Amino acid sequence: MTIPITPSTSLCALIGHPVSHSFSPLMHNAAFQEVNADFVYLAFDIKEEDLEKSIKAVPALGIRGLNVTIPHKVSVMKFLDELDPVAKEIGAVNTIVNENGKLKGYNTDGLGALMALQTEGINLEDKKVVMLGAGGSARAIAFYIASEAQELVILNRTESKAIELAESLKYKKEVNVKALKLNLDNLKMELNDKNIILINSTSVGMHPNENETLVTSDLLKNDMVVFDIVYNPIETRLLKEAKSAGAKAIDGVGMLVYQGAAAFELWTGKRAPADLMKSIVEKELLKREKRRRREKK
Ligand SMILES: NC(=O)c1ccc[n+]([C@@H]2O[C@H](COP(=O)([O-])OP(=O)(O)OC[C@H]3O[C@@H](n4cnc5c(N)ncnc54)[C@H](OP(=O)(O)O)[C@@H]3O)[C@@H](O)[C@H]2O)c1
Repeated sequence: MTIPITPSTSLCALIGHPVSHSFSPLMHNAAFQEVNADFVYLAFDIKEEDLEKSIKAVPALGIRGLNVTIPHKVSVMKFLDELDPVAKEIGAVNTIVNENGKLKGYNTDGLGALMALQTEGINLEDKKVVMLGAGGSARAIAFYIASEAQELVILNRTESKAIELAESLKYKKEVNVKALKLNLDNLKMELNDKNIILINSTSVGMHPNENETLVTSDLLKNDMVVFDIVYNPIETRLLKEAKSAGAKAIDGVGMLVYQGAAAFELWTGKRAPADLMKSIVEKELLKREKRRRREKK
């Protein structure tokens, strides 16, 4: 049954720039229908100079919640009334909830990554995690991983950003974290251990640069878990090569779905239909990949 849009329907939306390729409207609208939530989800392309006006309009328009994407995840924070402690520590917001006119910011990216690993049966306890990247999503992921894993090594092209991220995690007493420049020698050294969880949280390998990877195939081993947060394409070159090496390969769709599911639950108070959301995103990604292949011919 399709729930009709009426004057009492609640609105949630994505804000970012650009937003035209987002999967969130498809994913959330299908999820709202599935659990009979009287909600609708749209995407708004908001330029930096319009961000403040847009956020100020949220209580006035009675918008229930927002997802925030590039480039506003950090700059939006100053316009909110309150920050969830996790978002505050990460230093970025990807979800906003309007509670009776007060806007509270959350960050569900790191939780999404952790859930994606957990649903694949990956336990971080006693594990060494080697993470490539120190950008926005790496920050959110590192915040969660650092307290779960035995050791976290952050490698980034710009070394100073890796150091800064590692330093910001050191207030967690139990954390064993190290930062290095991302180069082949350091990769070789850090991947030369058993049962490593390797996470690519850079944009390398993302469409249209599907042939790129940061890890040479000789460094991939069958006792590794390789998690690539890039989801477009679903199977990146890194994941293809990880599979060929006999490693467990986890794609970025799970993280995308679970960060969305956490936002969905904050807005609706209902359990998100994560399996349905995953199948919707996978179907759409495969459709787009097929279209690209056809256009290439
Ligand atoms: N699955 C999901 O739910 C999910 C969620 C969020 C993001 N993502 C994906 O994750 C990727 C990163 O997003 P983000 O928001 O974290 O971006 P970001 O803040 O711009 O960070 C980009 C990161 O990639 C590194 N990088 C970029 N090009 C590189 C290259 N050629 N060689 C080495 N390192 C390079 C950057 O290193 P420098 O610091 O040296 O520039 C930085 O660490 C994107 O592909 C995005 O689509 C997935």
